Amino acid sequence: MHKIVYKKELAPKTVMLKVEAPWIARKIQPGQFIIVRLDEHGERIPLSISGWDAEAGTLRLIVVGVGYTSNKMIALNEGDSILDVVGPLGRHTHLPEGGAAVMIGGGYGTGAIIPSALEQRKAGRRVVGIVGARTKELVLLEDDLRAACADVFVTTDDGSYGRKGLVTDALKDIIDNEDVGAVLAVGPVPMMRAVSELTKPHNIPTMVSLNAIMVDGTGMCGACRVTVGGKIRFACYDGPDFDGHLVDYKELTMRQRTYLKQEAKAMEVFNRESAGRTATP
Ligand SMILES: Cc1cc2nc3c(=O)[nH]c(=O)nc-3n(C[C@H](O)[C@H](O)[C@H](O)COP(=O)(O)OP(=O)(O)OC[C@H]3O[C@@H](n4cnc5c(N)ncnc54)[C@H](O)[C@@H]3O)c2cc1C
Ligand code: FES
Repeated sequence: MHKIVYKKELAPKTVMLKVEAPWIARKIQPGQFIIVRLDEHGERIPLSISGWDAEAGTLRLIVVGVGYTSNKMIALNEGDSILDVVGPLGRHTHLPEGGAAVMIGGGYGTGAIIPSALEQRKAGRRVVGIVGARTKELVLLEDDLRAACADVFVTTDDGSYGRKGLVTDALKDIIDNEDVGAVLAVGPVPMMRAVSELTKPHNIPTMVSLNAIMVDGTGMCGACRVTVGGKIRFACYDGPDFDGHLVDYKELTMRQRTYLKQEAKAMEVFNRESAGRTATP
């Protein structure tokens, strides 16, 4: 069992949790992720790590409630426990050297880019962060990102905070003004795709973290199959980071929608359960 030792609400349906997982906290590297199962009837969901404390043996997670399991998870409290935490899974993020590294986060992705930003900065590189959100209250972890980056730009779709526009508007200005040697983008697929389309003509190496549907997380089940550069890859084992210029985003989006009906049904169950009635998905 893995105890939740800290919980903080960051935004509507978005929490930061610190969870005990001492073996993982000692081994994990930027870009790697975990898979959790809340209880014995639960499904397995992959989550990025936004930080860890090897001494305290804890992992810091940012969880956004989008469906049955993630909503159940954000309802947990300090002192509650999670049945399984498996990891570290996937590969350490590697960015080519030279020039500034631009780290771009949307949603939980802002948490996911922080370990890589800190690592790049520690290596002596200029690191620039961009956080994007629909509106001010959804801008996450700005202070943490500022602590990891030399400069941070915030964009909101509605202009309620930072610059009005998309992360690509901020990225375009950075590319026009300085030597960018690498970009890392973690967030919704359309965002990662738009970033990759912008950097491609500039030949700026761009890594994106693919949030394919995952089950086992070890490369065995095939659920997280993606196509990159015309070759089949497994996001859990070969990734989750891939060359953003080579990803087949259309296929990724299509595969993410495979279980929409079942996910909608599971949410109905969640809503009934949280309204106090009992049911199983
Ligand atoms: C490598 C990786 C890292 C991730 N990191 C985070 C994170 O740090 N914080 C966070 O809040 N979310 C993260 N996600 C997404 C998270 O795993 C999904 O939101 C979660 O699995 C949804 O489960 P659900 O039952 O709540 O919703 P569902 O109703 O099952 O699904 C809602 C949507 O989430 C996506 N999804 C569903 N199941 C999975 C799955 N097993 N794997 C991936 N996506 C799925 C689908 O697009 C689906 O339409 C990550 C995903 C991946 C692959
Ligand atoms: S999750 Fe099963 S192969 Fe990747």
